[in-house]
Amino acid sequence: LHTALDQAALWLNAAERVCVLTGAGVSAESGVPTFRASDGLWEGHRIEDVASPGGFERNPTLVWNFYNERRANVKKVAPNPGHHALVELEKRRGDRFTLVTQNVDGLHQAAGSRNVLEIHGSLRRTRCLGCGTVANRELEPLGAEPRCPQCRGQLRPDIVWFGEGLPDDVWSAAMDAAHECHVLLVVGTSAVVHPAASLIPIAKRGAVIPAKVIEVNLTSTEASRYADVGLYGPSGVVLPKLVQRLG
Ligand code: APR
Repeated sequence: LHTALDQAALWLNAAERVCVLTGAGVSAESGVPTFRASDGLWEGHRIEDVASPGGFERNPTLVWNFYNERRANVKKVAPNPGHHALVELEKRRGDRFTLVTQNVDGLHQAAGSRNVLEIHGSLRRTRCLGCGTVANRELEPLGAEPRCPQCRGQLRPDIVWFGEGLPDDVWSAAMDAAHECHVLLVVGTSAVVHPAASLIPIAKRGAVIPAKVIEVNLTSTEASRYADVGLYGPSGVVLPKLVQRLG
């Protein structure tokens, strides 16, 4: 691991622009469950029941109970050393740093990361299906059939579900960051969900030069074939070690 860490640190030190792509694994050590368990279920639910527009249409109460549980869980947890190491990395790089996250838990921001693009939305926000208002409700309890305070319309979580497009502005900023970076650090994602995972080949195709891709994960993934170096271990251990090695 030492030589791999040294190589990764060299590339990070030399990079003009750095982009980070994170997934559920970066929050695992905080106690937020990842998605792809071996039984194919998501905390006992089929993914299409709780994370698709069709599932919400069929049973909004089930979906809200599921999200209320996730909201309550996130309220109990705190950022881990992996999140904090990414804050430190951003501090060193100033504005030449973009953190793109698939996570909806808000733990990067809670740790102090500033330039964060949440491409899959946020557990804290609701969207009204009547008037379209997007509101930050933080992690307050919302009940099983929450209604819009403005128009009494039906609220849904402001989260990107399977079969839905990503928010245009956030996604195009993420593509720019990937395209322009010299190093892409890919942390704790299985890299099977698109278009998020396509940021990796986008970085490799690079605006100026192909980015160096550094993967941090417990295991190899769909991202590994693009990785110039793999740092295999828990991100809460690996990322602090990596940042410690920077000049
Ligand atoms: N440190 C590093 N990596 C870890 C750790 C850890 N402590 N724990 C787990 N991992 C890795 C796993 O090996 C796996 O590769 O994190 C990854 C988690 O993968 P997924 O559960 O598939 O999560 P993610 O890639 O974020 O899923 C993408 O899918 O369900 C949708 O919209 C949801 O944003 C989510 C998207």
